[in-house]
Amino acid sequence: MVEFSMAGHDLLFLVLIVVSVGTTVRADSQLSTDYYQSKCPDALSIVQQEVAAAIQNETRMGASLLRLHFHDCFVNGCDASILLDDNATFVGEKTAGANNNSVRGYDVIDKIKAKLEEACPGVVSCADILTIAARDSVVYLGGPSWEVSLGRRDSTNASRDAANSLIPAPSFNLTALISSFSAHGLSLKNLVALSGAHTIGLARCTSFRQHIYNDTDIDSCFANSLQQSCPFSGNDDALENLDLQTPTCFDNLYYQNLLNKTGLLHSDQELYNGNSSTDSLVQTYATNTSVFFEDFSTAMVKMGNIDPLTGSEGEIRTNCRKVN
Ligand code: HEM
Ligand SMILES: *[C@@H]1O[C@H](CO)[C@@H](O)[C@H](O)[C@H]1NC(C)=O
Ligand SMILES: *[C@@H]1O[C@H](CO)[C@@H](O)[C@H](O)[C@H]1NC(C)=O
Ligand SMILES: *[C@@H]1O[C@H](CO)[C@@H](O)[C@H](O)[C@H]1NC(C)=O
Ligand SMILES: *[C@@H]1O[C@H](CO)[C@@H](O)[C@H](O)[C@H]1NC(C)=O
Ligand SMILES: *[C@@H]1O[C@H](CO)[C@@H](O)[C@H](O)[C@H]1NC(C)=O
Ligand SMILES: *[C@@H]1O[C@H](CO)[C@@H](O)[C@H](O)[C@H]1NC(C)=O
Ligand SMILES: *[C@@H]1O[C@H](CO)[C@@H](O)[C@H](O)[C@H]1NC(C)=O
Ligand SMILES: *[C@@H]1O[C@H](CO)[C@@H](O)[C@H](O)[C@H]1NC(C)=O
Ligand SMILES: *[C@@H]1O[C@H](CO)[C@@H](O)[C@H](O)[C@H]1NC(C)=O
Repeated sequence: MVEFSMAGHDLLFLVLIVVSVGTTVRADSQLSTDYYQSKCPDALSIVQQEVAAAIQNETRMGASLLRLHFHDCFVNGCDASILLDDNATFVGEKTAGANNNSVRGYDVIDKIKAKLEEACPGVVSCADILTIAARDSVVYLGGPSWEVSLGRRDSTNASRDAANSLIPAPSFNLTALISSFSAHGLSLKNLVALSGAHTIGLARCTSFRQHIYNDTDIDSCFANSLQQSCPFSGNDDALENLDLQTPTCFDNLYYQNLLNKTGLLHSDQELYNGNSSTDSLVQTYATNTSVFFEDFSTAMVKMGNIDPLTGSEGEIRTNCRKVN
């Protein structure tokens, strides 16, 4: 019954994608899972080792690295454009609304890149590092694993305006979330599965204030307790767990929280309100971790394949923070 109604929604969604003009998923035939096998045989183990070290030092870093990949891929494709630093003559994506004082992990990427440049100079792209690090972070924190396609190249530009308009905001309703993901070729199911990334990591008061003061689709006891550290005004940077109970475990409690109306962000709770098109998927993921892990892995591969630069496009940066 659940499967049947999901299939119906997917079909409707497919029709929406076909008629929409902004689809950006490109065939990923130029990416391959064994891309570095001969070019840089230790590439994957070097990234994995450095990701493990970074998370051992600070558990939250796994969440931060996962989010970095998402914010890269949603803005002109997975091309490491998010990593370019601003300078006197260049404005990049780091200071876009969704990224400024929020996205983290840049130093970890620098460290991984330095190790890779030592092992195989000029070979492994920053965009691929982001893709591998996101996967390894999820695995380290107890989530599923999947094979990453590799061979992305790095952009030689970036766009703050694009970052400002393409990264979904926590104030988005379900309709807006669906169109944001569909503009990147991602389905309703992909949206619900990828939102499960919020099973790890933290958010600032400023990201959930409206939800805890003005929304009705929230458990009132939960809202009251959050209001202690996130006042009506001030303390904008106070942090709370995106997953109430287990913010350092990649599990399915995020979805169980949605059923209890204890999602932290407005956009999270939009996925379940007892009467929405995504309710049955949330219910499935809340009760069956293996279905969630499977759908999350599939969706991560799909997100990682958004508009890669390949062949002679872009470059392999030697320093992820600046164009060669
Ligand atoms: C569905 C639309 C999404 C919205 C509106 C959204 C919004 C947000 C917001 C507002 C935060 C907190 C930022 C802050 O307060 O500093 C956050 C954190 C986070 N997001 Fe999302 N997000 C979405 C989808 C995703 C996806 C697809 C992923 C990855 C696959 C992801 C991964 C994360 C992670 C891991 C964190 C915690 C980062 C940390 O602790 O450093 N999010 N997100
Ligand atoms: C470890 O994490 C802390 C933040 O908790 C950070 O300031 C420090 O630079 C990190 N050290 C290493 C070696 O990554
Ligand atoms: C980014 O945040 C800093 C404060 O840390 C602020 O001074 C700056 O104006 C912000 N940049 C943009 C473009 O909003
Ligand atoms: C969702 O948000 C958009 C943009 O803010 C708004 O136009 C629309 O009416 C909202 N839809 C629903 C169902 O609330
Ligand atoms: C809640 O909504 C009211 C009325 O629309 C608005 O004045 C107020 O600023 C909102 N509060 C928050 C924290 O968003
Ligand atoms: C959801 O609420 C039920 C009933 O109050 C509770 O037993 C359960 O532990 C809650 N789930 C989570 C993930 O907090
Ligand atoms: C559920 O949603 C439908 C349309 O999506 C609406 O017609 C109906 O009134 C809603 N029911 C409740 C109880 O909110
Ligand atoms: C989860 O779903 C899978 C695939 O539909 C099924 O084989 C499995 O039995 C389910 N597990 C539980 C605990 O319901
Ligand atoms: C940004 O770089 C990409 C790849 O090098 C190129 O295709 C695109 O046209 C550039 N955009 C701008 C605005 O220069
Ligand atoms: C500023 O950044 C751009 C993009 O990375 C780079 O091409 C340029 O060389 C940088 N300028 C300086 C002075 O570092």
